[in-house]
Amino acid sequence: MKRSNLQIRGFSKLSKSAKIAWLSQEHLKDPAMGLALIASYNHSDDAVQQRHDEFIENTVANYFLPLGVAPNFLINGQVYTLPMAIEESSVVAAAAKSAQFWMDRGGFHSTVHSTTKVGHIHFTFNGDASALAALLDRITPELLAATEGITANMRARGGGILSLELKDRREAMDGYFQLEVRFETRDSMGANFINSCLEEMAKVLRLEAATDAGTASGDLEVVMCILSNYTPECLVHCEVRCAIADLDDGSGMDVQEFARKFQRAVRIAEVEPYRATTHNKGIMNGIDAVVLATGNDFRAVEAACHTYASRDGQYRSLTHCSIEEGEFRFWIEIPLSLGTVGGLTKLHPMVQLALEALGNPGAKELMGIIAASGLAQNFAALRALTTTGIQKGHMKMHLLNILNQLEASDAEKAELTAFFADKVPHHAEVVAAFCRLRGIPIPQAEGVVR
Ligand code: MEV
Repeated sequence: MKRSNLQIRGFSKLSKSAKIAWLSQEHLKDPAMGLALIASYNHSDDAVQQRHDEFIENTVANYFLPLGVAPNFLINGQVYTLPMAIEESSVVAAAAKSAQFWMDRGGFHSTVHSTTKVGHIHFTFNGDASALAALLDRITPELLAATEGITANMRARGGGILSLELKDRREAMDGYFQLEVRFETRDSMGANFINSCLEEMAKVLRLEAATDAGTASGDLEVVMCILSNYTPECLVHCEVRCAIADLDDGSGMDVQEFARKFQRAVRIAEVEPYRATTHNKGIMNGIDAVVLATGNDFRAVEAACHTYASRDGQYRSLTHCSIEEGEFRFWIEIPLSLGTVGGLTKLHPMVQLALEALGNPGAKELMGIIAASGLAQNFAALRALTTTGIQKGHMKMHLLNILNQLEASDAEKAELTAFFADKVPHHAEVVAAFCRLRGIPIPQAEGVVR
């Protein structure tokens, strides 16, 4: 492949078609095929396409993920169908299976502790800390007044700035202080709101510190103003519970043994970071899929959940399990900073559809729904891991993915699905079976012994 002209200046100024032409010409083996592929992913409605183009810079195409739905989630007495945008096979099926299982056992119980978020003005100061504290006390009304224009709408919706606190962090870094500001942002995630408030307050802080007799010589320097994606107060708890005897799913398993093994599996993730990482990854399969489908920031949610998982210094499971007096309880507690207004919610038609399918929930309700999705996913994974093993459930979709890679026809897929119904479809064996069915040579590289 030619890699001659990969540097480019002024790329962002090019038209979309010029960007696509450059990408295809300079980066792809077959530019014409690249152009055709990109064109085929274009939305047929120009206005919708333009809206997608304008979400980010340098857009060249749309990137599809499947949107699946997992029905039968009974959460706080209400039944939901969860929209899930995810590429990983078996996540949606697992969610739906767990949802159905718990539907018959009282469903999921979600409680939101709070939706408080935090932002910081990070600054350095080399003067008298007590003069700085006195300055902050004096200028707090002024700091709040500086944000009034920004907070007016939020205050009308019952939100706004909750508190301001000076934090002395000199034990962590020379001269390091923070102004920690707590916010209530109601149904919006609030990132822009929080950052705007902090930046306005920082202007006042800078000016007042430079002119105040007690602090002027302390050389206060604002390093940055930013919300924190760690939102440990923005916490939701979701749990399922039933009598151990009711864990019986008709498969003939020993429910006492299952409950004990399941609890032990959770315990392993509580004490062992290697396992906790995979365990929590499975939880995020459920969480991210709904976060993404509802137009929320899955990177922020991921970051917060993993920080929370390591809040005592060791990375641990986000879920917990207890067995007491014959009752099985399984729960998750996670920080989820979400929005159901603002951001993509008004702009992305599929996000609007996903929120409508959920009954247009507010942020708190969505926190409860998404926590249930994570818990359901973890239940499905642990149930499989502690009983049949994880591969059995993965294999059906795995087989389909291999057959799709081989471009099998519907009839071939049906025949090979039946053939592998009672066998583990290892890649090489699927390829061999497919080749036999088509009557074509089996590739040697697959290393299949015939
Ligand atoms: C795979 O995406 C997720 C699992 O590995 C989670 C787990 O092991 O708990 C199945």
